[in-house]
Order: sequence, then C-alpha cells, then structure tokens
Amino acid sequence: MTGENKLRFELCVCIALVAVLCFVSLPVDAAVIKYQFDIQVKNVSRLCNAKPIVTVNGMFPGPTIYVREGDRVLINVTNYAQYNMSIHWHGLKQYRNGWADGPAYITQCPIKTGNSYVYDFNVTEQRGTLWWHAHILWLRATVYGAIVIMPKQGTPFPFPQPDREQVILLGEWWNADVETVENQGNTLGLPPNMSDAHTINGKPGPFFPCSEKHTFAMEVEQGKTYLLRLINSALNDELFFAIANHNMTVVEIDAVYTKPFSTQSILIAPGQTTNVLVRTNQTPGRYFMAARPFMDVPIPVDNKTAAAIFQYKGIPDTVVPTFPHLPNPNDTSFALSYEDRLRSLNSPQFPANVPLRVDRNLFYTIGLGRNPCPSCVNGTRLAASLNNISFVMPRVGLLEAHYSDTAGVYTTDFPDLPPTPFNYTGAPLTANLETAKGTRLSKIRFNSTVELVIQDTNLLTVESHPFHLHGYNFFIVGTGIGNFDRAKDPAKYNLVDPPERNTAGVPTGGWTAIRFRADNPGVWFFHCHLELHTGWGLKTAFVVEDGPGPDQKVLPPPKDLPPC
Ligand code: C2O
Repeated sequence: MTGENKLRFELCVCIALVAVLCFVSLPVDAAVIKYQFDIQVKNVSRLCNAKPIVTVNGMFPGPTIYVREGDRVLINVTNYAQYNMSIHWHGLKQYRNGWADGPAYITQCPIKTGNSYVYDFNVTEQRGTLWWHAHILWLRATVYGAIVIMPKQGTPFPFPQPDREQVILLGEWWNADVETVENQGNTLGLPPNMSDAHTINGKPGPFFPCSEKHTFAMEVEQGKTYLLRLINSALNDELFFAIANHNMTVVEIDAVYTKPFSTQSILIAPGQTTNVLVRTNQTPGRYFMAARPFMDVPIPVDNKTAAAIFQYKGIPDTVVPTFPHLPNPNDTSFALSYEDRLRSLNSPQFPANVPLRVDRNLFYTIGLGRNPCPSCVNGTRLAASLNNISFVMPRVGLLEAHYSDTAGVYTTDFPDLPPTPFNYTGAPLTANLETAKGTRLSKIRFNSTVELVIQDTNLLTVESHPFHLHGYNFFIVGTGIGNFDRAKDPAKYNLVDPPERNTAGVPTGGWTAIRFRADNPGVWFFHCHLELHTGWGLKTAFVVEDGPGPDQKVLPPPKDLPPC
C-alpha cells in the first residue's frame, strides 16, 4: 500500500466503524423522517365563495405527518406567504427542545417571508393522534393537519386492531379573509365575525351551498372495525360529533390511551384529539357524520352543522343518509358526564404516573374584562386575563431570552393566587373590569410537582375554556361547578386513573385541577385554545428551570433559529 492508499484505507475503516457505532447505538426501529412544508397562498372555494388562503403545500387541510414512536422528525418549513409564520406540533413534548415547539415569540421568532426553519425533534414515549397548526395570528384557520404516531414496531394497540383508520379534522371556515376578520375585531374592540361554517376534513357538507364537491365521504365495508382519529382544529368552538346509528368506543385522548367506553356522541374542544373505534355493524347504507358546537351560555356562536358521509360500499349516492342524534347545543349535563367517563388506561404497560405529592400549588382565575380604547366602538376593548393579568406578547422569543439570560423581556412574578379573592361564580360582575397587562411568567423549579387549579369566573359572563399547556401532558385530577374549595375538593380527586391530556376543559362557571411534574426545562406557553380568548390575553408561560444533570438542561438553540 502506498502511503496515500494506506491513509484512505484507514479513513474508510474509521468511517465504517463510526457508521457501525452510530447504527448500534440507535434503537433498531428508530428512523429519521423528513418533510418539506411550503407555506403557500392558494385559491380555495367553499360555500360558493373563493378566496386566497394560506396553506401547507397547497393542501387544505394540510398533510398528515406519519411517524413512529422513537423517530426523529425533521420538518423544513419554507415560507412563501406574505405573513410571518411559525408552526406548533401540538401535544409533542419536545423534551429540552422548546426550539422546535413553535409558538411565535414564545419559543422562536417567526419565519419571515422567503426564509426557512427546520423543526428538528424526537417523538419520545408518545403514540396516538396529535396535530400541527400555525401558531401566529389566526393563520391556523387554514394551516393545520394531523400527526399520527404509530406505536413502536411490535407493540400492538391495547384495543382490538382496527381494519382501517381515518383522520377526521374538524374546522371552521370564514368566507372573508380570516386576518381581515381578526383585525376588524381588534379595531372595534369587539369579538370578530364568527365563522360561516364548520368543516370535516376541510369540507362543510351538504347543508351548505355548493356542497357537491365539498362533502367528505368515507367508504366503509360491513363487519369491519375503523379507527377514527378525530381532531378539533376549530378556532373557537367546542364541538359535538356523532355518526348516525353507530356507537363509538373512545380508546385514546390527546395521544394517551383511555379505558374504553362506548358513546353515541363525543365532545371535543379546540386543541383536543380523540381516537374512537367504530364497528360497521349496521344495515349497509349511508349515514351522516356530523359536528356542531356545544355552548351552554348565551354567547353567540356559529351554530351550523358540518356533515360528512359514512358510506357503506356498494350503496348508491342517491340514498338519503340518516342523520345522527347529537346532544342539544346547550347540553351541560351531557358535557359533564362525558368528561367524567374519560379515564386513563393505567395499565402496567401504560401507567398513569400521577404526582401524589404537590410541591407547588397554583390557583389561576379566568376573567373577561374591558380596557380603555378611545378608538374602539364603546371606548373599550374586550380583554381576557389570568389572575387579572392580560398577557402582553414580547417582541423577541421568550425561550431565547431565558436561555441567554437577557433581562427586560419578561418578569417571573406571575402571582400564584388571584390578587383579591371574591365570589368567583356568583352573580355576574360588570364593574371594575379593567385588567393589568404584562409579560409575566411563573418560574418553576426543575422536577417539582405542580398543581394548578383553573377557576372560571363570572366577570361579564361565565364560559367554558379549553386550556392547553405546551411541553407537557398533565393529569386532570378534579373538576367541579362553582368555586373551588381548598378544604373539601381535594379529597374528591381521582389520583388513580385521571385523564391525561395536553388540553383540559374548564367547565362553565366551574374549575379544573391539573397536576404535572415539571421535568421538561424551558419556556412553555399556557393558554386558552379558543383563539378569540388567546388574542385577548388569556395566556401566560412557565419558565421551568434547568435541572442539575447534563441531560436536564435546555439544549443549545439550532443554528437556523429565525431571528426577530
Ligand atoms: Cu395548539 Cu399553543 O397551541
């Protein structure tokens, strides 16, 4: 061998060795999955009305991401639209890796027009249905899609293996440009115009004009089991969903297995996902699947029903489908009893690790309010608050400010309790509605256990709110109507098999208690998933400190993290 050849040979051996070492150190079934997301404006028509919408790859809804538990995912997002963009992978825990979480100005600055950013993350110890959506302005109205996480190779579902599966994305459609709608509301200081239709997989269905092309249909065969992966991607509406003549068995919520139970209808709030099994055990025919809102207070809501068709093979399209029985729009008791039936599977393989001891108790009140706004119609602008603080969005990413110890971006004095206790759910309060403003966060010690009670109030009106925490799942250990009673209510908690989710409903005029272990360092957004309320300030964030170990610290930021 000449000297040069010898060097080459040694190099090759060395590379081969590294390759082998890399290979053996990876779990055998872990893969690197890549997607390209082009943010593009496209003309789309619904309800006989065409308009340009922001999409991913020209698709509405956007593409489904398929991964397996344990995979690494690289999604390169390139922004060709006129809006700044950021994408959130809703429900993925992003351990130490908030950089890939996506909420604009919380964990990153937005991706500017003409720029790209690679969301690089691992899918660890999660399997089921989650979803992704734009996390800036109201762009998620059209920029959303499903994430399907298959269990590890060789790990079956803890329920009967379905023959086939189908993603069902529930959404909202406005005939007008959604950003124009949002801006009008902000200018007037009032709620913006409500949506014109609900949609199932982007299609409103036959109860709307020009529905021929815009009705989703799913062909099924008799005698089979179907897994429906339902996602509520609507901006502002909690929805009931049912299929005529077919019961559904709930087996998973927010990518966590549940104790299976059978129901005629499900209730799903914006941000939540629900997997159900459906047996095609009825007379072959055509059956409507339908979705319409749940609203149990006199607040105006888009009350229109989206419909799609559950169509047995071989049945002609001329057969008129049967309509399902949906709960009444204001059926509080259905809502409460449905929520009460949700329980974690809590099996040896999929245990519910509920924190039994609490290090930090937090109590946050949800309030509506009105702040002075001379240019608004009533001289005031509607606001929303937690512990009477309407969150002010920063101009730079909070995670970056935390990581680099930059002062002056946020404070960590978010109060653990409301400033003044009152009868939260008594008669409506219509005076002293001004809220405080600030970018105030709560600092949480690494690995401490947190209990957070979220209390609805009757400031202006009571209302139900789906609260979403980034970076974590939590356990819903208790919920109730009226004022939370620290002396009595904790005794009634379910600490055995409470539902584990990333988005929890706070019932109208009631409270919900959640628990989690703060083992994921970073800055994590916590907000109402009704876009209307988020925009009004119903949000805050937790700064979870680094732990002592080298693998308990926030990872360094990626090189391509977008600048502000
Ligand atoms: Cu799905 Cu911060 O949201």
